[in-house]
Amino acid sequence: MIPTGFPQLLCFSILIAVASLRGCKGDAGSLQLNDDVLGLIVFRSDLHDPFSYLASWNEDDNSPCSWEFVQCNPATCRVTELSLDGLSLSGKIGRGLQKLQNLKGLSLSNNNLTGNISPELSLMGSLERLNLSRNGLTGRIPSSLAKSSIKFLDLSANALSGPLPDDMFESCFNLRFLSLAQNFLEGNIPSTLSRCASLSNLNLSNNFFSGNPIFSSGLWSLTRLRTLDLSHNTLSGPIPDGVSAIHNLKELRLQKNRFSSSLPSDIGLCPHLIKLDFSNNLFTGAIPESGQLLNSVTLFDVSNNMLSGSFPQWIGDKINLEHIDFSGNGLEGVLPLSMGNLKSLTYLSLSGNRINGSIPPSLFDLGLDQVDLSRNELSGSIPGGSGRLSESLQALDLSGNKLTGDIPAEMGLFSKLRYLNLSWNNLQSRMPPELGYFQYLTVVDLRNSALYGSIPDDICDSASLGILQLDGNSLTGPIPEEIGNCSSLYLLSLSHNNISGSIPESISMLKKLKILKLESNQLSGEIPPELGRLENLLAVNVSYNLLTGRLPVGGIFQNLDPSAMIGNLGICSPLLKGPCKMNVPKPLVLDPYAYGNQIGGRNRGSESSRSSRNSSHHRFLSISAIIAISAAVLIAIGVMVISLVNISTRRRIAFIDNALESVCSSSTRSGSLSAGKLVLFDSKTSADWISGPESLLHKAAEIGVGAFGTVYKASLGEELGDGRTLAIKKLVTTNIIQYSGDFDREVRILGKARHQNLLPLKGYYWTPQMQLLVSEYAPNGSLQAKLHERSTSSPPLSWPIRFKILLGTAKGLAHLHHSFRPPIIHYNMKPSNVLLDEDFNPKLSDFGLIRLLTKLDKHVISNRFQSALGYVAPELACQSLRVNEKCDIYGFGVLILELVTGKRSVEYGEENMVILNDHVRVLLEQGSVLDCVDSSMGEYPEEEVLPVVKLALVCTSQIPSSRPSMLEVVQILQVIKTPISHRMEAF
Ligand SMILES: *[C@@H]1O[C@H](CO)[C@@H](O)[C@H](O)[C@H]1NC(C)=O
Ligand SMILES: *[C@@H]1O[C@H](CO)[C@@H](O)[C@H](O)[C@H]1NC(C)=O
Repeated sequence: MIPTGFPQLLCFSILIAVASLRGCKGDAGSLQLNDDVLGLIVFRSDLHDPFSYLASWNEDDNSPCSWEFVQCNPATCRVTELSLDGLSLSGKIGRGLQKLQNLKGLSLSNNNLTGNISPELSLMGSLERLNLSRNGLTGRIPSSLAKSSIKFLDLSANALSGPLPDDMFESCFNLRFLSLAQNFLEGNIPSTLSRCASLSNLNLSNNFFSGNPIFSSGLWSLTRLRTLDLSHNTLSGPIPDGVSAIHNLKELRLQKNRFSSSLPSDIGLCPHLIKLDFSNNLFTGAIPESGQLLNSVTLFDVSNNMLSGSFPQWIGDKINLEHIDFSGNGLEGVLPLSMGNLKSLTYLSLSGNRINGSIPPSLFDLGLDQVDLSRNELSGSIPGGSGRLSESLQALDLSGNKLTGDIPAEMGLFSKLRYLNLSWNNLQSRMPPELGYFQYLTVVDLRNSALYGSIPDDICDSASLGILQLDGNSLTGPIPEEIGNCSSLYLLSLSHNNISGSIPESISMLKKLKILKLESNQLSGEIPPELGRLENLLAVNVSYNLLTGRLPVGGIFQNLDPSAMIGNLGICSPLLKGPCKMNVPKPLVLDPYAYGNQIGGRNRGSESSRSSRNSSHHRFLSISAIIAISAAVLIAIGVMVISLVNISTRRRIAFIDNALESVCSSSTRSGSLSAGKLVLFDSKTSADWISGPESLLHKAAEIGVGAFGTVYKASLGEELGDGRTLAIKKLVTTNIIQYSGDFDREVRILGKARHQNLLPLKGYYWTPQMQLLVSEYAPNGSLQAKLHERSTSSPPLSWPIRFKILLGTAKGLAHLHHSFRPPIIHYNMKPSNVLLDEDFNPKLSDFGLIRLLTKLDKHVISNRFQSALGYVAPELACQSLRVNEKCDIYGFGVLILELVTGKRSVEYGEENMVILNDHVRVLLEQGSVLDCVDSSMGEYPEEEVLPVVKLALVCTSQIPSSRPSMLEVVQILQVIKTPISHRMEAF
């Protein structure tokens, strides 16, 4: 190997000597062969090859044809191709290469080559393809490069500069591909370019070219063009008509220049146009009518011009469109309903126009990623959005319009949403409770959108939120303590609302917080001193609240400007005039006898509804007596039903036989049996499961029978799941169900319910005859087993564990009720549906099944309810009143009582039957309620057990409206859990 800098003359003579000894395969032409070897060795000697890729280039060889990256013509033994792409070579393209007289293709792209492009490169007589892209080449482009033999010339992404030589394209009639993109080239584009009649690909983008190439270079005469990219230059002037002469044009990119006047009116006459980008120019006038002929177009961008006229109504017919950007113009008119036809559309931005009317609901049935309709004059409501949208949408900006009405509940299902901006509208809506549910949500901007209600507790369940802006609404209630979960938050801005309570100490956990804006609210108490520890805080404003007391020491509070603190009741700062009030905490009062009318010390609901409930309380009592009587009648019926159910559960049918039989028998019955489909939500391999359920059921073992079906435990194979154990529920249905659409949609909604206290639904298997639900398997069994079917060997549950189960169950249920609209109602709250993990964390299962089954088979439901007797709310049993989440709260109340007393909801004696709920109520009235506490749990704190029992009785109130919401239940349980010393006053 010749070291770099070895005298070339010496090298040359050595090579000659070597070559004459060996010859090329003993044949003629050895001198020319030596030229190739010599040329390559000399070429290499100017390069630095850090990874020794060119080590096989041995100057002792008489032919380079076996060297790596070198290709020869086998007939002549001459080098025809040299491809050294991406080898991290640096240095200059020196002499030597011109020796390769038969070279057709030279590709040195994606290296670190520097220096000028030597005019001698054009001495390679037969070069057709030259690729020097993505290097660090500098200087001017030699005019001889585009000589007659060359077909592909790619000099993009270098640092070439200066104007192009005027005569550069004098003889370029073979040139098909020319890219000079991403350099520092300037000046006019030479007029000789119009001679490159074979050119199909022209890319001059990202330079500093100026002038008007369409006039000066006659670009429209290059009729073979397929792609033309002049974007990101400083080209100017009008675009004349005539583009339609380029019949096969597929891509036209003129964005980011200074083109003016109107868009070419014959643009629609290029029938094959796929991508069209006129954005960021100075175009005026309307979008050409001929655009409606562009049937293949997928990308259509005219954003940031000065276009006017009406929004093209034909856009809905361009069904191949994927990307529409008309933003930043002055387009008027309405959005056509036909936009719902754009099934391929993923990106839609129309922001900053004058579009009015309403958003076509069909638009929200598309699989869009990004929707920006901001800063228009849209009115009406926000459409709900279909399952497709909820699977795809990542960014939604509807800000700055005149939209009204609720934020649709379906938004809670937008699982990929990162950016949500509905600010500056007139929604007049409640603060959406499901915000905390978005796993990836990073920015929420709901400023000035006429929202009311309180900030949801779970706003940061996913902890991805970075920006939360809720300023200028009518929000009430406190800043939730859970705001401390927003660990990614750096902008928290809640100003100009009616937020009350004190500033939560947990804000001090937001280590990334930079900006905190709380001005113009009703916040009271002292600013938590812990906030002084927030080191990244750059701006704080707490002015115009009811704050008192000292400022935190440290951090930004040292130098807080008085304007950020004024207008409070008495903040103590030497910088502020006026009073300084030290804070005395207000005791939190919990009045147990006020339950049912008013919940606890924190009053979150509206005062007026509470007081009306209060005043009608006595009238309701007599109704409740009536309901109690009818409930007693029902219970008698229920006893019979229960015995029937028990008999049927004993007749357990083997799952596999049963399932296979149903598949086989029906396939003989109807030849056109639709194939089974196994859908796993979080698996990439949700393949159609044509071969039937055998492989799934192979190892299945029955583990229980519930009201809605039999439960099996099974391990999914590696190819379907990840080899984990899953629980499979075979749903009871009486009919053959033909349509899977409803089922799929409903199960997917349930699948979205993810919470630490919910048993996640993993997927389903569907055939018309059989529906299976696949969920996680909970290894520690159910609360039913631990509480009521405990073997003598396992220890009884302690009070702390029971409390943990209660609180967790309440949280899971609260998530179902408050994070979905409409709420997911469990309908079947009972210990057997509370599963436990290793640490006794409860996980609710079977939620929402009734609704699901109702979709499938209306007959099933009425027959199944009675099996949960004792948990069923009276109004449900009567089936005359509206069924809502209050039914679950009743069931939860009964569950509390079972946990406290260790007794079943209904116990059957020799002759009588004890309804737990009534029993405890009587004991409480007699003042001996502690008598019924489960003695097996040993020591327990009365100050916790007593309020929990009272809570249970409020939950099982006969009057649905007297029962608290699950959110209130969670709050009350959390207050009960706090050590007594922290509470000012207990029950
Ligand atoms: C090119 O050179 C620069 C600095 O000289 C170096 O940082 C870079 O990694 C090199 N690139 C390649 C592809 O070798
Ligand atoms: C040149 O090389 C680059 C990178 O290797 C490649 O992307 C490009 O298509 C090549 N140009 C031509 C004209 O083949």
